[in-house]
Amino acid sequence: MREAAAEDSAGDTARGRGASPPAAIVLAAGKSTRMRSKLPKALHPVCGRPLLAHILDALQNAGVARRVLVVGHQADVLQSRMDETFGPGTNAYALQTEQKGTGHAALMAAPALAGHAGTVLVVPGDTPLLTAGILRDLVTTHNTVGAAATLLTAVLPGDAGSYGRIVRDPGGAVVGIVEARDATPEQRAIREISTSIYAFSAPALFRSLHDLRPDNAQGELYLTDVIGLLRAAGQTIAAITSPDPDVVLGVNTRVELALVEARMRARILDDLMLSGVTVSDPATTYVEATVRVGQDTTLLPFTFLQGETVIGEDCVIGPQTHVSGSRLGDRVTARACFIAGSEVGDGCRIGPFANLRPGTVLHDNVKIGDFVETKAATLHEGVSAGHLAYLGDAEVGARTNIGAGTITCNYDGRQKHQTFIGADAFVGSDTILVAPVHVDNGAVTAAGSVITDDVPAGALAIGRERQTNKEGWAARRRDEGRGMRDEKGKELHTHPSSLAPHPSSAEGTER
Ligand code: UD1
Ligand code: MG
Repeated sequence: MREAAAEDSAGDTARGRGASPPAAIVLAAGKSTRMRSKLPKALHPVCGRPLLAHILDALQNAGVARRVLVVGHQADVLQSRMDETFGPGTNAYALQTEQKGTGHAALMAAPALAGHAGTVLVVPGDTPLLTAGILRDLVTTHNTVGAAATLLTAVLPGDAGSYGRIVRDPGGAVVGIVEARDATPEQRAIREISTSIYAFSAPALFRSLHDLRPDNAQGELYLTDVIGLLRAAGQTIAAITSPDPDVVLGVNTRVELALVEARMRARILDDLMLSGVTVSDPATTYVEATVRVGQDTTLLPFTFLQGETVIGEDCVIGPQTHVSGSRLGDRVTARACFIAGSEVGDGCRIGPFANLRPGTVLHDNVKIGDFVETKAATLHEGVSAGHLAYLGDAEVGARTNIGAGTITCNYDGRQKHQTFIGADAFVGSDTILVAPVHVDNGAVTAAGSVITDDVPAGALAIGRERQTNKEGWAARRRDEGRGMRDEKGKELHTHPSSLAPHPSSAEGTER
């Protein structure tokens, strides 16, 4: 930045100023009335990340050294959210207390960039599909031409709606930008639009911003007017056209938000597929920008991968699987299940209909079957919980089998308590483990037991009533009920069907 200041003092069009990294101004003070939202537009999520964070990512990846965010409407919320996302001190902030237009907003950033005489990028806070690549191209052209301003334009296929139109002279040189509201019918027909993304020579920009006048339909200070002013002053204006018009889609309404989300989703899935992930139905697969997926993993339809999620290689995820904030190893299968805030080792098999809640840690080769819920539970290698269980605040040793219907009673109405089960244990079906309780290595619990006391290693614990059989009871009950009627006068169903030991004998008594 110091070198650039020295070079640029000679003139705004000095070549070679690109040697220093560009700075950037991000305009995000607007009220975004058209969103009709309590949340600032810049914080609406696009593929799981705030809209504005995508733009800051692109700037960072393009090598921008200093970012100034112009904030105004709900500045506190915006600022604290960006500090949370990027770390405090990463972005500088400039306050625009009254929203007097994009030109006025850019001017607010001048003090924060005092002494920066190199290139400054100006980008709006509402174009999340912007890429680092297109920003680099913009800066390269700007520096090569030695322009005072370089515009990024796009050519739209149909009507250009509310975008500013690029006006060129017969020789093709940019003369200025006309806002749709201020355009003549001929200008409105122009399909080349301003993306609101520019590279400027910083001194040229800040000088022109002072000369802006609000003589337009909205009575605002338009940043777009800087181009006409610079041109009138004989400065060089360059322009590049984005090869992909989507890159510059601005979000002004929630309809545009959905459009941008769809484009970004497709871009994420394309990148995954090109990196070696099979996505069998991109139309029904939802992967957020923060997710990483390993090679030769297959994502089946209706898979949702969200937050800081990492999936290993050779996994099969889905159909109908929802993973958020979790780390899965290699060769994991996860069918029709929810996995949140969990760690899953290699070779685990999960689902269908399992619910792994935060704090779940599965070591390698664990099996979690249907209707099993885990929470703050560590299951060591080779544990199998095949069906219908709740394992909360628990640790289960290697190779232990958890029978169907096992429940850890971790909550006594006041506090949560831990259940420890050792290695190579066998927890019988329908075991109720009343925590705190410890079942040691190799122990067995009898089916249907309520375990309230610790079980020593290798022991069998039986915690249930002993069964008694009453011979001939069913027939006696039937005889007692013969000829009796209920309150509606209907003959009582004398056969105690629910007690019948076998369906064939039940049919026999009915006739
Ligand atoms: C702007 C451009 C238009 C361009 C379009 C591309 C102007 C006058 N118009 O229109 O030529 O085609 O972007 O998307 O520049 N902002 C502030 N303070 C303000 C006003 C706006 O910080 O006083 C911020 C907004 O938060 C937003 C950005 O500037 O992030 C652009 O403002 P917006 O109202 O969306 O402008 P557009 O109508 O989209
Ligand atoms: Mg806009």
